[in-house]
Amino acid sequence: MRKVVLDMDPGIDDVLALILALKSPEVQILGITTVAGNAPVEMTSANARRVLKYLGASSIPVAAGAANPLNRPLEDALSYHGPDGLGSCGLPSPRTPLYPAKAWDFLARLVLDAPGEITLVATGPLTNVAHAFELHPELPALLTRVVLMGGAYTLTPYGKGNRTPFAEFNIWQDAEAAHIVFNSGADIFAVGLDVTMDPAACLNSQYLKQIKIRRTPAARLVAQLVEYEVKYHGCCRMHDPIALATLLDASVLDFISAGVEVVVGNDWDRGVTRILFSGGSQSIHVASAVDGPRFLKLFLSRILEE
Ligand code: RIB
Ligand code: CA
Repeated sequence: MRKVVLDMDPGIDDVLALILALKSPEVQILGITTVAGNAPVEMTSANARRVLKYLGASSIPVAAGAANPLNRPLEDALSYHGPDGLGSCGLPSPRTPLYPAKAWDFLARLVLDAPGEITLVATGPLTNVAHAFELHPELPALLTRVVLMGGAYTLTPYGKGNRTPFAEFNIWQDAEAAHIVFNSGADIFAVGLDVTMDPAACLNSQYLKQIKIRRTPAARLVAQLVEYEVKYHGCCRMHDPIALATLLDASVLDFISAGVEVVVGNDWDRGVTRILFSGGSQSIHVASAVDGPRFLKLFLSRILEE
């Protein structure tokens, strides 16, 4: 059983990762911290609680975090995820209150109470994580690992940008935060577009038919979210669930170790994540390949079970 904190910006694929985590006995979710990214932080915080309530998991605390990146205003992705950030799935508004602490303080409290026991899975911009590491410099070494969905490392033909031609959305949104986290000394496993944009790891309409057969609450919600992405984007990209899956089956992803430069600032190369094969300040594990069929089999087996 791995103790996990999820820092996320739900967002359709964040919720698919949350459902996968809730349906996986290997993972114990100690808490969720929410950040502005796909949607404003009020919406990502509400979405996390909407989903937890719907799946009978509202005992998991949700602490809200940053409303904007460190150095600039938010540029959300509601045009992709829908006006509610969740594919207009229609889940009722949450009644569960937020945990009474900012995300970075909540994360620090959990880690300092269980040094060396917690894995952080970050699937949104890294603003909260950077705040936490700046306030508590001892935190990176006290986490067992940080698994993050972010970056485009040109390790495969899919490793190109999705927010600009060169940069991935999470890193681009808050490049300064990413620079802090990538140079924090934490044991980082970075899962980028190189693997998450692999067509073999994408849920298409064929899989949707399979999901629709099941009538459990989890399967019904997954079907709604996947259907929205298939309808408006052709298939459902599994960025965040692929990142989480590495905790469930290490063979789903291959990693290389390398230095990574994160480009900050406001030029054309903002948010570029450049592999430094000749070392660099810190070695990062960067996902270099995905076993798409193995991942999809794992995901479907978990969300389709009773
Ligand atoms: O680039 C994809 C990432 O940005 C995913 O985590 C998605 O949810 C958005 O946050
Ligand atoms: Ca996300």
